[in-house]
Amino acid sequence: MNTMTEPRTATYPHAPVGVIDSGMGGLSVLREIRALLPAEALCYVADSGFVPYGSRPATEIRNRAETLVRFLLGQQVKAVVVACNTATAAAARSLRDRWPGLPIVAMEPAVKPAVAATRSGVVGVLATEGTLGSARFAGLLEQYAGRVEVITQPCPGLVEAVEQGDLDGPLVGRLLERYLTPLIDAGADTIILGCTHYPFLRERIREMAGARLQLIDTGAAVARQLRRRLDEAGLQASVDVSPMHRFWTTGDPGAMHRFLARHWPEPEAEVGIVDDDWRRRPG
Ligand code: DGL
Repeated sequence: MNTMTEPRTATYPHAPVGVIDSGMGGLSVLREIRALLPAEALCYVADSGFVPYGSRPATEIRNRAETLVRFLLGQQVKAVVVACNTATAAAARSLRDRWPGLPIVAMEPAVKPAVAATRSGVVGVLATEGTLGSARFAGLLEQYAGRVEVITQPCPGLVEAVEQGDLDGPLVGRLLERYLTPLIDAGADTIILGCTHYPFLRERIREMAGARLQLIDTGAAVARQLRRRLDEAGLQASVDVSPMHRFWTTGDPGAMHRFLARHWPEPEAEVGIVDDDWRRRPG
């Protein structure tokens, strides 16, 4: 590939931070970033035209992630957050290889904090097939599980329900019951929400499983890691700036609009469509 055609990373503090996910899930991370770093301008791209990533081959997810990052670089971002566990497992390394000068913050299921938090010695992990089947996740278990029993549970259907904004309906209730029951029956007292879509189901999980179950996700930790990376690079925006928050999707902008109206503090946020050029299927 001709590197002359690669868009360049912005290197000034008031440039935006780019955030990607397969869809709406990354908004659970974006709200943590907004809370911790209120001066940062944010560009969010939901790849909802290609959701779910969870059952796609890793090569396809890598291509999608590269496409989204290239789009964001065209928006002059100074850093990228991969707000998706599945995309991190498949693509974090290739993104870092391709753009070595770009600060890239990625995320993975919170095995280490969950192992530290459990009292029963049993931890459950809810995540996508792609995440649970990845070498990266196997490495996490090997490094941190120790004597704690970690039970994994793929959750087909949950991401799709969240994408449709169906957080309160009976379908989600049935799916959660199916996925949580084996974990609770096995004695899990701590559940890792290993997909960024699942924090939107936190209340439902609480209703079903009660307050004794600890639910752990990594959105806040990712925001802190982003702050560290921006600090190290001298790229943190100053507090007197009132930042832009911009949204794009490769899917239905109406669906994203409805989701933002319910889950983002600026309900009138505009949603752009990522061009047809960017919508080509990979491969
Ligand atoms: N939100 C994503 C994650 O954190 C992926 C969901 C999907 O598209 O399957 O894993």
